Amino acid sequence: ADAFPFHGANQAGIFTPQQRAAAFAAFDVTATGRSGLTEVFRTLTDRARFLTTGGSPVDLGVGAPPSDSAVLGPVVPADGLTVTLSVGSSLFDDRYGLATRKPAKLGPMKTFPDDSLEERWCHGDVMLQLCANNPDTVQHALRDITKHTRGAMQLRYRMNGFQSPPRPSGTPRNLMGFKDGIANPTQSDQLIWVRAGAGEPDWAANGSYQVVRFIRMLVEFWDRISIAEQEKIFGRKRDSGAPLDGSGESDTPNYPADPEGKTIPLDSHIRLANPRTGETAGNRLLRRGYNYDLGVDLNGNLDVGLIFCCYQQDVERQFEAVQHRLAGEPLTDYIQPYGGGYFFALPGVRDQRDYFGSGLL
Ligand code: HEM
Repeated sequence: ADAFPFHGANQAGIFTPQQRAAAFAAFDVTATGRSGLTEVFRTLTDRARFLTTGGSPVDLGVGAPPSDSAVLGPVVPADGLTVTLSVGSSLFDDRYGLATRKPAKLGPMKTFPDDSLEERWCHGDVMLQLCANNPDTVQHALRDITKHTRGAMQLRYRMNGFQSPPRPSGTPRNLMGFKDGIANPTQSDQLIWVRAGAGEPDWAANGSYQVVRFIRMLVEFWDRISIAEQEKIFGRKRDSGAPLDGSGESDTPNYPADPEGKTIPLDSHIRLANPRTGETAGNRLLRRGYNYDLGVDLNGNLDVGLIFCCYQQDVERQFEAVQHRLAGEPLTDYIQPYGGGYFFALPGVRDQRDYFGSGLL
Protein backbone atom coordinates (compact mmCIF):
# COMPACT_ATOMS: atom_id res chain seq x y z
CA ALA A 1 0.00 0.00 0.00
CA ASP A 2 1.05 3.61 -0.56
CA ALA A 3 -0.22 4.87 2.80
CA PHE A 4 -1.80 3.45 5.93
CA PRO A 5 -4.19 5.67 7.93
CA PHE A 6 -2.47 7.13 10.99
CA HIS A 7 -5.59 7.77 13.06
CA GLY A 8 -7.60 4.91 14.53
CA ALA A 9 -8.51 2.96 17.65
CA ASN A 10 -5.39 0.81 17.23
CA GLN A 11 -1.95 1.76 16.01
CA ALA A 12 -0.94 0.84 12.47
CA GLY A 13 2.06 -1.46 12.06
CA ILE A 14 0.59 -4.28 14.13
CA PHE A 15 -2.28 -5.93 12.29
CA THR A 16 -1.01 -4.23 9.12
CA PRO A 17 0.34 -6.40 6.26
CA GLN A 18 4.11 -6.42 6.59
CA GLN A 19 6.08 -3.84 4.63
CA ARG A 20 9.45 -4.81 3.19
CA ALA A 21 11.76 -2.61 5.28
CA ALA A 22 11.90 -2.00 9.02
CA ALA A 23 13.87 -0.54 11.90
CA PHE A 24 13.42 -1.35 15.56
CA ALA A 25 14.84 1.54 17.58
CA ALA A 26 14.86 1.55 21.37
CA PHE A 27 15.30 4.80 23.29
CA ASP A 28 16.01 5.91 26.82
CA VAL A 29 13.77 8.85 27.70
CA THR A 30 15.65 11.76 29.27
CA ALA A 31 12.80 14.33 29.32
CA THR A 32 12.23 15.99 32.68
CA GLY A 33 9.01 15.36 34.55
CA ARG A 34 5.56 14.41 33.37
CA SER A 35 5.21 17.58 31.32
CA GLY A 36 8.47 16.88 29.51
CA LEU A 37 7.30 13.36 28.76
CA THR A 38 3.95 14.61 27.49
CA GLU A 39 5.72 17.10 25.26
CA VAL A 40 7.94 14.48 23.67
CA PHE A 41 4.95 12.16 23.06
CA ARG A 42 3.12 15.06 21.42
CA THR A 43 6.13 15.71 19.22
CA LEU A 44 6.32 12.02 18.31
CA THR A 45 2.64 12.17 17.36
CA ASP A 46 3.10 15.20 15.12
CA ARG A 47 6.10 13.72 13.36
CA ALA A 48 4.45 10.31 12.91
CA ARG A 49 1.29 11.95 11.54
CA PHE A 50 3.28 13.97 9.00
CA LEU A 51 5.68 11.21 7.98
CA THR A 52 3.00 8.53 7.51
CA THR A 53 0.82 10.92 5.49
CA GLY A 54 3.59 12.55 3.46
CA GLY A 55 3.75 16.08 2.07
CA SER A 56 6.01 19.07 1.72
CA PRO A 57 8.24 19.85 4.70
CA VAL A 58 7.81 23.33 6.11
CA ASP A 59 10.58 25.66 4.95
CA LEU A 60 12.25 27.44 7.85
CA GLY A 61 13.46 30.34 5.75
CA VAL A 62 16.70 31.60 4.26
CA GLY A 63 19.78 30.85 6.33
CA ALA A 64 18.08 28.35 8.62
CA PRO A 65 19.11 24.69 8.47
CA PRO A 66 16.74 22.74 6.23
CA SER A 67 13.75 21.31 8.06
CA ASP A 68 14.08 18.02 6.19
CA SER A 69 17.06 15.82 5.33
CA ALA A 70 15.77 15.49 1.73
CA VAL A 71 16.75 11.82 1.81
CA LEU A 72 13.41 11.23 0.06
CA GLY A 73 13.60 14.28 -2.18
CA PRO A 74 11.80 17.63 -1.83
CA VAL A 75 8.36 16.10 -1.14
CA VAL A 76 8.08 13.34 1.44
CA PRO A 77 6.11 10.31 0.15
CA ALA A 78 4.17 8.18 2.65
CA ASP A 79 5.67 5.06 1.03
CA GLY A 80 3.68 2.68 3.24
CA LEU A 81 5.33 4.00 6.41
CA THR A 82 3.96 3.01 9.80
CA VAL A 83 5.34 4.41 13.07
CA THR A 84 4.42 2.19 15.99
CA LEU A 85 5.21 3.45 19.48
CA SER A 86 5.59 1.11 22.46
CA VAL A 87 6.69 1.71 26.03
CA GLY A 88 8.85 -0.47 28.27
CA SER A 89 8.31 -1.14 31.97
CA SER A 90 11.23 1.15 32.88
CA LEU A 91 9.16 4.19 31.81
CA PHE A 92 6.93 3.44 34.81
CA ASP A 93 9.71 3.79 37.41
CA ASP A 94 9.92 6.83 39.75
CA ARG A 95 10.84 9.40 37.10
CA TYR A 96 7.37 10.22 35.75
CA GLY A 97 5.08 9.14 38.58
CA LEU A 98 3.39 6.58 36.35
CA ALA A 99 3.83 3.48 38.53
CA THR A 100 0.13 3.05 39.25
CA ARG A 101 -0.76 3.39 35.57
CA LYS A 102 1.44 0.60 34.25
CA PRO A 103 -0.21 -1.97 31.98
CA ALA A 104 -0.93 -4.95 34.24
CA LYS A 105 1.16 -7.49 32.30
CA LEU A 106 4.18 -5.28 31.55
CA GLY A 107 7.52 -6.20 33.12
CA PRO A 108 11.14 -6.42 31.99
CA MET A 109 11.98 -9.18 29.48
CA LYS A 110 12.88 -12.43 31.20
CA THR A 111 15.95 -14.53 30.49
CA PHE A 112 15.06 -17.91 28.98
CA PRO A 113 17.12 -21.11 29.19
CA ASP A 114 18.83 -20.81 25.79
CA ASP A 115 19.38 -17.04 25.96
CA SER A 116 22.71 -15.27 26.05
CA LEU A 117 21.55 -11.71 26.63
CA GLU A 118 23.76 -8.69 25.99
CA GLU A 119 22.64 -5.66 27.99
CA ARG A 120 23.35 -3.19 25.17
CA TRP A 121 20.79 -4.98 23.00
CA CYS A 122 18.10 -5.21 25.68
CA HIS A 123 15.13 -3.27 27.06
CA GLY A 124 14.53 0.48 26.65
CA ASP A 125 11.95 3.05 27.86
CA VAL A 126 10.46 3.33 24.39
CA MET A 127 10.47 1.13 21.28
CA LEU A 128 9.85 2.67 17.90
CA GLN A 129 8.96 0.23 15.15
CA LEU A 130 9.30 1.88 11.76
CA CYS A 131 8.15 -0.08 8.70
CA ALA A 132 7.89 1.08 5.08
CA ASN A 133 8.12 -0.10 1.52
CA ASN A 134 11.75 1.04 1.23
CA PRO A 135 14.75 1.30 3.60
CA ASP A 136 15.44 4.97 2.77
CA THR A 137 11.94 5.84 3.98
CA VAL A 138 12.64 4.08 7.26
CA GLN A 139 15.93 5.93 7.70
CA HIS A 140 14.38 9.25 6.79
CA ALA A 141 11.66 8.75 9.42
CA LEU A 142 14.17 7.78 12.08
CA ARG A 143 16.33 10.83 11.38
CA ASP A 144 13.35 13.13 11.42
CA ILE A 145 12.15 11.73 14.73
CA THR A 146 15.54 11.71 16.47
CA LYS A 147 16.14 15.28 15.33
CA HIS A 148 12.82 16.50 16.71
CA THR A 149 13.14 14.65 20.02
CA ARG A 150 16.79 15.46 20.72
CA GLY A 151 17.40 16.21 24.38
CA ALA A 152 14.29 14.25 25.40
CA MET A 153 15.03 10.76 24.06
CA GLN A 154 18.36 9.06 23.41
CA LEU A 155 18.83 6.09 21.06
CA ARG A 156 19.83 2.97 22.97
CA TYR A 157 20.07 0.45 20.14
CA ARG A 158 18.70 0.02 16.65
CA MET A 159 18.28 -2.97 14.37
CA ASN A 160 17.33 -2.67 10.72
CA GLY A 161 15.26 -5.46 9.21
CA PHE A 162 14.10 -6.56 5.80
CA GLN A 163 11.49 -8.92 4.54
CA SER A 164 12.23 -10.91 1.41
CA PRO A 165 9.79 -10.95 -1.50
CA PRO A 166 7.86 -14.22 -2.00
CA ARG A 167 10.30 -16.87 -3.33
CA PRO A 168 8.69 -18.01 -5.59
CA SER A 169 5.24 -17.32 -4.14
CA GLY A 170 3.24 -17.22 -0.92
CA THR A 171 4.78 -16.35 2.45
CA PRO A 172 8.31 -14.84 2.36
CA ARG A 173 11.30 -16.85 3.59
CA ASN A 174 13.59 -16.25 6.54
CA LEU A 175 17.39 -16.57 6.28
CA MET A 176 17.21 -20.30 7.07
CA GLY A 177 15.37 -20.71 3.76
CA PHE A 178 11.97 -21.57 5.24
CA LYS A 179 8.74 -19.68 4.72
CA ASP A 180 8.14 -17.78 7.96
CA GLY A 181 4.86 -16.23 9.07
CA ILE A 182 2.48 -18.77 7.56
CA ALA A 183 0.38 -19.71 10.59
CA ASN A 184 -0.68 -16.33 11.98
CA PRO A 185 -4.03 -15.36 13.50
CA THR A 186 -6.42 -13.93 10.92
CA GLN A 187 -8.55 -12.02 13.40
CA SER A 188 -7.28 -9.68 16.08
CA ASP A 189 -9.97 -9.22 18.74
CA GLN A 190 -9.47 -12.32 20.87
CA LEU A 191 -5.69 -12.52 20.73
CA ILE A 192 -4.07 -9.17 20.04
CA TRP A 193 -5.84 -6.07 21.36
CA VAL A 194 -5.99 -5.46 25.08
CA ARG A 195 -9.55 -5.04 26.28
CA ALA A 196 -10.92 -2.68 28.90
CA GLY A 197 -11.26 -4.33 32.30
CA ALA A 198 -9.46 -7.67 32.81
CA GLY A 199 -7.21 -6.01 35.40
CA GLU A 200 -5.84 -3.49 32.90
CA PRO A 201 -5.98 0.28 33.40
CA ASP A 202 -8.73 1.81 31.22
CA TRP A 203 -6.28 3.79 29.10
CA ALA A 204 -4.61 0.55 27.92
CA ALA A 205 -7.63 -0.71 25.94
CA ASN A 206 -6.82 -1.16 22.24
CA GLY A 207 -3.09 -1.36 22.91
CA SER A 208 -1.10 -4.57 22.53
CA TYR A 209 1.89 -6.19 24.19
CA GLN A 210 4.93 -6.33 21.94
CA VAL A 211 7.81 -8.76 22.39
CA VAL A 212 10.99 -8.12 20.42
CA ARG A 213 13.79 -10.69 20.35
CA PHE A 214 17.06 -10.48 18.46
CA ILE A 215 17.92 -14.03 17.46
CA ARG A 216 21.13 -14.76 15.66
CA MET A 217 21.06 -17.60 13.12
CA LEU A 218 24.13 -19.84 12.92
CA VAL A 219 23.69 -20.20 9.18
CA GLU A 220 27.12 -21.75 8.54
CA PHE A 221 26.07 -24.77 10.64
CA TRP A 222 22.53 -24.77 9.32
CA ASP A 223 23.70 -24.88 5.71
CA ARG A 224 25.60 -28.12 6.43
CA ILE A 225 22.69 -30.31 7.58
CA SER A 226 20.39 -32.27 5.27
CA ILE A 227 17.08 -30.91 4.05
CA ALA A 228 15.30 -33.83 5.76
CA GLU A 229 16.83 -32.85 9.10
CA GLN A 230 15.98 -29.17 8.59
CA GLU A 231 12.39 -30.09 7.76
CA LYS A 232 12.07 -32.24 10.89
CA ILE A 233 13.33 -29.34 12.99
CA PHE A 234 10.59 -27.03 11.74
CA GLY A 235 7.90 -29.62 10.87
CA ARG A 236 7.37 -28.08 7.45
CA LYS A 237 8.71 -28.66 3.94
CA ARG A 238 11.44 -26.32 2.86
CA ASP A 239 10.30 -25.78 -0.73
CA SER A 240 6.54 -25.40 -0.34
CA GLY A 241 6.18 -24.45 3.33
CA ALA A 242 3.57 -27.20 3.69
CA PRO A 243 3.35 -29.08 6.99
CA LEU A 244 5.13 -32.44 6.60
CA ASP A 245 1.74 -34.20 6.38
CA GLY A 246 0.34 -31.79 3.77
CA SER A 247 0.99 -30.42 0.31
CA GLY A 248 0.42 -26.66 0.39
CA GLU A 249 1.61 -23.96 2.81
CA SER A 250 -1.92 -23.18 3.97
CA ASP A 251 -2.72 -26.83 4.84
CA THR A 252 -3.40 -27.41 8.53
CA PRO A 253 -1.26 -30.09 10.18
CA ASN A 254 -3.28 -33.01 11.53
CA TYR A 255 -1.59 -33.83 14.84
CA PRO A 256 -4.28 -36.18 16.20
CA ALA A 257 -3.65 -38.46 13.19
CA ASP A 258 0.07 -38.61 14.10
CA PRO A 259 0.13 -38.98 17.92
CA GLU A 260 3.70 -40.34 18.03
CA GLY A 261 5.12 -37.69 15.75
CA LYS A 262 6.23 -40.09 13.00
CA THR A 263 5.60 -37.50 10.27
CA ILE A 264 5.76 -34.23 12.20
CA PRO A 265 8.11 -34.82 15.16
CA LEU A 266 6.71 -34.01 18.59
CA ASP A 267 9.68 -31.69 19.21
CA SER A 268 9.41 -29.88 15.87
CA HIS A 269 9.16 -26.08 16.06
CA ILE A 270 5.59 -25.79 14.79
CA ARG A 271 4.26 -28.63 16.93
CA LEU A 272 5.75 -27.23 20.13
CA ALA A 273 4.86 -23.63 19.25
CA ASN A 274 1.23 -24.50 18.56
CA PRO A 275 0.11 -28.02 19.51
CA ARG A 276 -3.36 -27.10 18.22
CA THR A 277 -5.20 -28.56 21.20
CA GLY A 278 -8.23 -26.78 22.63
CA GLU A 279 -6.30 -25.63 25.71
CA THR A 280 -3.47 -24.00 23.77
CA ALA A 281 -5.69 -21.95 21.41
CA GLY A 282 -5.38 -18.90 23.67
CA ASN A 283 -1.56 -19.05 23.48
CA ARG A 284 -1.47 -18.04 19.82
CA LEU A 285 0.20 -14.75 18.92
CA LEU A 286 0.72 -12.45 15.95
CA ARG A 287 4.25 -12.75 14.56
CA ARG A 288 5.63 -9.82 12.58
CA GLY A 289 9.33 -10.57 12.23
CA TYR A 290 12.09 -9.33 9.94
CA ASN A 291 15.42 -10.66 8.73
CA TYR A 292 18.56 -8.74 9.67
CA ASP A 293 22.12 -8.69 8.35
CA LEU A 294 24.89 -7.07 10.39
CA GLY A 295 27.74 -8.25 8.17
CA VAL A 296 30.52 -10.24 9.86
CA ASP A 297 31.34 -10.80 13.52
CA LEU A 298 34.83 -10.56 15.10
CA ASN A 299 35.46 -14.25 14.41
CA GLY A 300 34.67 -13.98 10.71
CA ASN A 301 31.22 -15.58 10.97
CA LEU A 302 28.19 -14.18 9.21
CA ASP A 303 26.24 -11.99 11.62
CA VAL A 304 22.65 -12.57 10.48
CA GLY A 305 19.38 -13.54 12.05
CA LEU A 306 15.79 -12.80 12.85
CA ILE A 307 14.19 -9.83 14.53
CA PHE A 308 11.42 -11.83 16.14
CA CYS A 309 8.53 -9.51 16.89
CA CYS A 310 5.12 -10.55 18.11
CA TYR A 311 1.99 -8.88 19.43
CA GLN A 312 -0.50 -10.22 21.93
CA GLN A 313 -3.02 -9.50 24.65
CA ASP A 314 -1.01 -11.06 27.45
CA VAL A 315 2.75 -11.76 27.41
CA GLU A 316 2.58 -14.55 29.96
CA ARG A 317 -0.36 -16.38 28.41
CA GLN A 318 0.99 -16.05 24.87
CA PHE A 319 4.71 -15.35 24.23
CA GLU A 320 6.00 -16.85 27.48
CA ALA A 321 3.81 -19.96 27.24
CA VAL A 322 5.07 -20.58 23.70
CA GLN A 323 8.69 -19.76 24.55
CA HIS A 324 8.62 -22.20 27.49
CA ARG A 325 7.31 -24.97 25.25
CA LEU A 326 10.11 -24.23 22.75
CA ALA A 327 12.87 -24.46 25.41
CA GLY A 328 15.45 -27.03 24.29
CA GLU A 329 13.83 -27.62 20.87
CA PRO A 330 16.27 -28.98 18.24
CA LEU A 331 16.30 -25.53 16.56
CA THR A 332 18.19 -24.12 19.57
CA ASP A 333 21.44 -25.62 18.22
CA TYR A 334 21.24 -23.26 15.24
CA ILE A 335 20.07 -20.01 16.83
CA GLN A 336 21.21 -17.66 19.61
CA PRO A 337 18.83 -15.15 21.22
CA TYR A 338 20.82 -12.21 22.62
CA GLY A 339 18.57 -9.16 22.89
CA GLY A 340 15.16 -7.55 22.79
CA GLY A 341 12.59 -6.47 25.30
CA TYR A 342 8.98 -6.43 26.40
CA PHE A 343 6.95 -3.37 25.44
CA PHE A 344 3.38 -2.16 25.40
CA ALA A 345 2.19 -0.72 22.08
CA LEU A 346 0.02 2.26 22.98
CA PRO A 347 -3.59 2.54 21.80
CA GLY A 348 -4.05 4.36 18.49
CA VAL A 349 -4.16 8.14 18.08
CA ARG A 350 -7.85 8.81 17.42
CA ASP A 351 -7.87 12.11 15.57
CA GLN A 352 -6.07 15.34 14.78
CA ARG A 353 -6.23 16.57 18.40
CA ASP A 354 -5.32 13.29 20.09
CA TYR A 355 -1.71 12.24 20.82
CA PHE A 356 0.25 9.12 21.77
CA GLY A 357 -0.39 8.17 25.39
CA SER A 358 -3.08 10.85 25.94
CA GLY A 359 -4.96 8.42 28.20
CA LEU A 360 -1.82 7.49 30.11
CA LEU A 361 -0.38 10.95 30.65
C1 HEM B 1 6.25 -21.01 13.13
C2 HEM B 1 10.91 -20.08 12.23
C3 HEM B 1 11.43 -18.31 16.70
C4 HEM B 1 6.72 -18.97 17.49
C5 HEM B 1 7.47 -20.94 12.51
C6 HEM B 1 7.76 -21.47 11.20
C7 HEM B 1 9.06 -21.19 10.95
C8 HEM B 1 9.60 -20.52 12.10
C9 HEM B 1 9.85 -21.53 9.69
C10 HEM B 1 6.80 -22.22 10.29
C11 HEM B 1 6.07 -21.36 9.32
C12 HEM B 1 5.06 -20.45 9.94
O1 HEM B 1 3.97 -20.87 10.35
O2 HEM B 1 5.38 -19.28 10.03
C13 HEM B 1 11.44 -19.53 13.38
C14 HEM B 1 12.82 -19.18 13.52
C15 HEM B 1 12.98 -18.68 14.78
C16 HEM B 1 11.69 -18.72 15.42
C17 HEM B 1 13.88 -19.34 12.46
C18 HEM B 1 14.22 -18.15 15.47
C19 HEM B 1 15.25 -17.68 14.82
C20 HEM B 1 10.20 -18.34 17.31
C21 HEM B 1 9.94 -17.85 18.63
C22 HEM B 1 8.60 -18.03 18.85
C23 HEM B 1 8.05 -18.65 17.65
C24 HEM B 1 10.94 -17.20 19.58
C25 HEM B 1 7.77 -17.68 20.06
C26 HEM B 1 8.18 -17.81 21.31
C27 HEM B 1 6.19 -19.57 16.38
C28 HEM B 1 4.78 -19.85 16.21
C29 HEM B 1 4.64 -20.45 14.96
C30 HEM B 1 5.97 -20.50 14.38
C31 HEM B 1 3.68 -19.55 17.22
C32 HEM B 1 3.35 -20.93 14.32
C33 HEM B 1 3.04 -22.34 14.73
C34 HEM B 1 1.68 -22.76 14.18
O3 HEM B 1 0.69 -22.10 14.51
O4 HEM B 1 1.66 -23.74 13.43
N1 HEM B 1 8.61 -20.37 13.04
N2 HEM B 1 10.78 -19.24 14.53
N3 HEM B 1 9.05 -18.81 16.76
N4 HEM B 1 6.89 -19.96 15.26
FE1 HEM B 1 8.83 -19.65 14.91
